[in-house]
Amino acid sequence: MNTTSDTPSASCASAATTVRLDHVLDLDTLDVSTIRALLWRARSLQAVALGNEPPGDVLAGKTIATAFFEPSTRTRLSFTLAAERLGARVIDLAAAASSLSKGESILDTARTLVAMGVDAIVMRTQQAGAPHMVSRCLDCAIINAGDGQHAHPTQSLLDIAALASATERFDSLDLSYLHIAIVGDIAHSRVVRSAIAGMTALGAHITLVGPPSLVPAAMTALARSPGTVTIEYTIDAVLDRADVIMCLRIQFERAGSGKAGLIASVAQYRQLYALTTQRAAAMKAQSWIMHPGPANAGLEIDSQLLVGPRSLISSQVSWGLAVRAAVLEACA
Ligand code: CP
Repeated sequence: MNTTSDTPSASCASAATTVRLDHVLDLDTLDVSTIRALLWRARSLQAVALGNEPPGDVLAGKTIATAFFEPSTRTRLSFTLAAERLGARVIDLAAAASSLSKGESILDTARTLVAMGVDAIVMRTQQAGAPHMVSRCLDCAIINAGDGQHAHPTQSLLDIAALASATERFDSLDLSYLHIAIVGDIAHSRVVRSAIAGMTALGAHITLVGPPSLVPAAMTALARSPGTVTIEYTIDAVLDRADVIMCLRIQFERAGSGKAGLIASVAQYRQLYALTTQRAAAMKAQSWIMHPGPANAGLEIDSQLLVGPRSLISSQVSWGLAVRAAVLEACA
């Protein structure tokens, strides 16, 4: 386990100052103080973002475009709700019905949105790096809502928020001595890459767990501090020592024609990697279950574990609104 050297004061947390950023593309380019400032700002926007207080005017007069070239439920709708509850107008590209089908590129599509006067584009793409490319070409804030297997920065921020809230670490946002096991299809996961960038920056230790073919050893090099990302090849190796078990689904859609070979069989995968009710009973006391969603209940996790006192999954979704509100405020 490691400690983080950049421990903030409680007064920083209570101030919850507004952050200004040109874009949010991943967490590996944000320093620790910026990550914390975004999360504290998210906490102060939470009631409005969730609709528990009357709509705010933080984004009054702003227009946010959502451009999702891959399916999404949580990310697209939480950006939309957060933006609207902060006073923005939201337009959705509805990619399937857009001129992409006539051969227009992602860059030209984004350029068209900018010409219409949008203040920020929230973008999800199948291609890793596409939001970064667009951000370099256009004079508009770009927020990465997931690019291929590369990054999903707001997912990591909301995961940290849910975890910090559950473990009463929100004032410090210091995750030292927290051991987070991420289990499943590590190779295809943009959630993992951003989780490593965000969580190890705040002092957490991450163990990546999965079949050798789905856990590239090189992923350990993404840690913000040496030695804070390790690998195991069975879920039983982490059950009684992880503070959090985060399950990931197998992303068959990213494997193309090789998808049949991703796992030997569902039965074999479940034998070594599924979080079952029996295994959950062997987790250490005061530990948590997370999943970024969508889950394949009955494969990587038993359906009974998606809810219940140990599950942070609904909390993750709820924090998504506050985190995205803070990110929109920072960029738009
Ligand atoms: N976790 C996540 O990105 O979910 P969606 O694909 O539903 O947005």
